[in-house]
Formats: sequence, structure tokens, C-alpha cells
Amino acid sequence: MDNAKPLAREEGLDHTLALLREGYRFGQNRADAFQSDAFETRLLGEKALVLRGEEAARFFYDSGKLVRSGAMPKRVQKTLTGEQGVQSLDGAEHRHRKAMFMSLMNRGALREMREIVSREWMLAAGRWEGRGEIELYEEAKLLLARAACAWAGVPVDSEDAPRLAETLGAMYEAPASLGLAYVKGRRSRRQGEKRFAALIEDVREGRLDAREGSALRTIALHRDLQGQPLPARIAAVELLNILRPIVAVAVYVAFTAHAVIHHPEEAARLAREEEERQGQEPESIAEVGGPRGLAAESMPDHGGPRGSAAESMPGKREERLQRFVQEVRRFYPFFPVAAARAGEPAEWAGFQLEAGQLVMLDLYATNRHPALWSDPESFQPERFAGWQGSPFKFVPQGGGGHDAGHRCAGEWITLEIMKESLDFLANRLAYELPEQDLSFSLGDIPSLPHSRVRLRSVRLER
Ligand code: HEM
Repeated sequence: MDNAKPLAREEGLDHTLALLREGYRFGQNRADAFQSDAFETRLLGEKALVLRGEEAARFFYDSGKLVRSGAMPKRVQKTLTGEQGVQSLDGAEHRHRKAMFMSLMNRGALREMREIVSREWMLAAGRWEGRGEIELYEEAKLLLARAACAWAGVPVDSEDAPRLAETLGAMYEAPASLGLAYVKGRRSRRQGEKRFAALIEDVREGRLDAREGSALRTIALHRDLQGQPLPARIAAVELLNILRPIVAVAVYVAFTAHAVIHHPEEAARLAREEEERQGQEPESIAEVGGPRGLAAESMPDHGGPRGSAAESMPGKREERLQRFVQEVRRFYPFFPVAAARAGEPAEWAGFQLEAGQLVMLDLYATNRHPALWSDPESFQPERFAGWQGSPFKFVPQGGGGHDAGHRCAGEWITLEIMKESLDFLANRLAYELPEQDLSFSLGDIPSLPHSRVRLRSVRLER
């Protein structure tokens, strides 16, 4: 950062429309034009400081100057996050609630998710046989809604699952939409919170026996710092904070398929035969010491999934799956920015922040920062070989530590789902690709391949 330069300020009354139009590129376009990793603009009627890069992420997550209370725009709360959930908390209250989430992310639970997802892919492949063509994104939402419920201990039957997938999908598809899609997102959140608040009451009243250690039971029985159970509606918000993002991994599944299709040479490296010939096939996730790379990355306060001493090296195939999905998370757009407010007057890179001022960290631009990544616009899984990561450089699901900060609680689960899905897409399914438009627009949030990835004559190969 060149401090001799005038501070980068965008003139004009408000740039929210430009943000909606330019989507993921909003921050990058201005950072490039100003040649600055920080610029001031006006969004949603107020002054905002937009940041990108490793030092900016360190300030955003680790300076102790920023808070989350009141940072999330109302339209995002009404669809994506709900109100009074962990995302909106600060200090001791946040750490206490976050610990509840992180207690669910132990090694056994991750292994269980991997097994559930594998089973769901097998079942889905059975359903797809003889169906001609499928739309992978929609099918992945259904598959993951079923997996999310099985993992979280939430009862759902085959008839109900598609509707639930739709409800959960609408919550993350809506925040940046206008018109009908937004209305559908708000309605879905209202319905979802009502449904899951009733389920929480069922567990508390003993009408439903939720499995020990499941997300449903843990959230229903959680006590706050004053020793009180969460109001049922807030407990429902937190249960939705588990179910909704698991379904949202469907976006990454669609992009994983996109990468497999566009980088056949990289997908070929994942082939199972190679490992079987070398006799290095890992028996299961059990042999793999948790999502590696992340363990190092997620320091300082969280050395990997609970109970996962890094006792064993992952097998070679697992390592290759891991590199590929890490690059999918870096390369493709998903979560554009994280938002916070200055808790007190502060200064960063010459900008004076007033207490309460909005600060946004551009996650997409940080993952593609030309000073942090060589050839950032090209898809290269090998860049993650031996990745010892910095928790502030690679931030597709937020940065910093998991326990004290707001970094995504579901990062390891996301990786497990993605690796299993990649294995099916690259190795275990046979399919044809019908003519389709696989391009995606950086103006859409969330972005998806326009055709939603259509596959024809899908069948299990092994
Ligand atoms: C689909 C892929 C996912 C993406 C792209 C993603 C991204 C993010 C991001 C960017 C944040 C906010 C970071 C911040 O505010 O600084 C976040 C927070 C969070 N995520 Fe995820 N996430 C994903 C999957 C998951 C999954 C599978 C779960 C749960 C099983 C999950 C649970 C959470 C929770 C509970 C928070 C709030 C953490 C806090 O405020 O302390 N996410 N996620």
C-alpha cells in the first residue's frame, strides 16, 4: 500500500446498484482501478470501507476493532442468516454459542458425514438410472438436504425431502435477488423457522428422541451464558445454520462438476487406479487425519477437528481430492464478502473509521489477489500441494480462527462433502454431457453454471 497516494474514495451518493450489477467483481474492479487494497464507497445508504488481501483480512478478523452486531443488512437476515443467530453475536456470547457449533465438528461426525454423503450419492445414482437427463445442481440440493437431515438427526421422509431442499435452497439463493426470488426466500425462512422451532420443542418436551451428539439435540438442549435454553425460534435459526449451508454446498458440487468437465487432465489425476496400483488406497476417512491443510490454516485457536491429532498422513488419493476441492473453493465464486462494523474509532491503511462504520472484506478478491496467488485466474489444484496455508490468505469461508472469530463453522464438513462428491463425479459415475450453456456470470450472486450442469444417461461405474 502506498501511503503517499491519496486515499481511494469513490464519489457518488450510493453504489448499491453497481454492486448488484457487477456482483463479485465490484470490489476487484475498484481495487484495481484505485490500485489500492482498501477503498471507501457508499453502499445501502451508508459509508463503507471495502478491503481485500491478507493484511486486510488480518485486520478484519484479528484486530479486535470490529464487531458483528448490526453489520448484516436486514434483507440478508430475512433470508440467509435469520436474526439473533451466531453470526450477529460478539465477545463472550459469541464464543459460547460458537463452541456449541464447533463441538459438532469432531472427527467421528466428519467421518459420519462422509459416509452419509457417499450413501446418498449411491441412492441418487440409482434414482437417475433410466431417467435420461438430470440437472445436477437441483439433484445435489436434494441429495444434500437428505444428508443434512440424516447427519443432524432431523426426521424427514422421502416425500418431504424435495420440499425441504427447496425451502433451504431459497434461503441462500435469495439475498441478492429482487422480486419473486426474494419473496420466496423470505417466505422460506418464515416457514423454516416455524417448522424447526416446533421440532426443538418436540425434543425438549420428550416427544422426539433426538440422537445423542446430534446437531438437533445439541442445539435443543444448549444453555446460554445465563444457563437458559435458547428461545425456540433462535434455536431454530441455529439449526437452520446447519441444514441450510449443507444444502448450499450444492453450489460447490455444481462448480466441482464444472471443473471436472473443463479440466479433464486434472480430473484424470484423481483416478482410483493409480492408487490401487501403488497399494496406497486409504481405507476410509478414518485413516485420514481430518481435512489436512485446513488444520494448519485454521490456527491460531483451532488446530483441526476435535479429537483429530494429526497422527496420520492422508493417502495420496485423498490428498489429490483435497487439492482439487481447495482450488474449486478458491477459483469459483460463492460467498462474496464478510461484513462487520467498527466497534470503536479505528484506523486502517490511513482510513479513519468512525465507531459503527461498515467494513467489508472482499473474500472473492482476496482469493484471487495477484500479489498472493500466482496466475490467480487459472485453475491449478497443484498450488495446494503441501499447502501450509495462512488463515488470512485463503478465505472462501471466512478467515482467522474458528473458535474466537466468525470463520465458518462448517468448513471441514464442506470439504468432506466436496471430496466425496468429486470422487463420484470424476471416478465412480459414467455420464454423457448434452449440449448446454455451462458458462456462469459474475453478476449473479450466488453464481451458478447457467445450465445448472445437465448430465445424461448417468450410471454407477463402480
Ligand atoms: C457451502 C459452503 C459454505 C460457504 C461458502 C460458507 C461460507 C461462510 C462464510 C463466508 C461465513 C462468514 C464468515 C464471516 O462472517 O467472517 C460463514 C459462517 C458460518 N458458516 Fe459457513 N459456509 C459454507 C458451509 C457451511 C456449512 C456446511 C455449515 C454447517 C454445517 C456452515 C456453518 C456456518 C456457521 C454456523 C457460520 C457462522 C460462524 C460465526 O458467525 O461464528 N457453513 N460461512
